[in-house]
Amino acid sequence: MGGADLATAVRWLENSRFLVAFTGAGMSADSGVPTFRGADGLWRGYRAEELATPAAFESDREKVIEWYRWRREVVAAAQPHRGHQALAREETTERRVTVITQNVDGLHQRAGSSDVIELHGSILINRCHRCGRSREDDQKGDPDWCSCGGAMRPGVVWFGESLPQQAWRAAETAIAACDLVLVVGTSAVVQPAASLLEIAATRRIPIIEVNPRPVLTHPVLTLSCRAVDGLSELFG
Ligand code: APR
Repeated sequence: MGGADLATAVRWLENSRFLVAFTGAGMSADSGVPTFRGADGLWRGYRAEELATPAAFESDREKVIEWYRWRREVVAAAQPHRGHQALAREETTERRVTVITQNVDGLHQRAGSSDVIELHGSILINRCHRCGRSREDDQKGDPDWCSCGGAMRPGVVWFGESLPQQAWRAAETAIAACDLVLVVGTSAVVQPAASLLEIAATRRIPIIEVNPRPVLTHPVLTLSCRAVDGLSELFG
């Protein structure tokens, strides 16, 4: 990690009154949760794009459910790391901190972050594939099937599906009002989530990227390191 870049990032942070942290799978990688793209993203030879779709669920429900069962086990065994904790502690300062995450694992919340916008839903809940009702609202009956007859599925957003409207609106509002964006561990290729960074760039908001293999092309300050190290140093 470059000393001069880190010093600049710390200065930007000190001057910030409203920080948005935009996080992806690389944030959770240091907790042992595999990322989606790259070699460790494979599960039994399948890529996430082949499993995380309504069509995959409709054609082979068992396979998709099994993949999520495995992912839930990984998430349940994982612990938030020092980077998650350092970010959560920032909330105790005068600075407003909003986390916009593409992750579905709840690790930011477990670390203590209280203002977390989950763009891609949560793996920790189930909802009906037909009527959308969550498991909590439909406690009776078969855990795999909703009382409307639809199949229960993980409460995440699959490829080709719309983002939860409330989360999307909250994310747009935060990006429109913040004065600093910290982008951590995302390949920034999945839309519409990645378009939030375009909005920030258009607003000329300073963007700090933390990623061992940086990807952003807009003018940014880059900390080429793992999330756990970058965030610990930045907030330390
Ligand atoms: N620290 C920080 N960044 C890391 C680390 C680490 N320890 N390890 C890997 N990375 C970076 C990679 O270099 C890559 O740029 O994290 C990024 C992970 O990219 P993806 O696997 O594409 O994850 P993400 O961007 O979150 O994917 C977006 O795609 O599959 C869908 O819905 C799913 O939310 C997900 C979305």
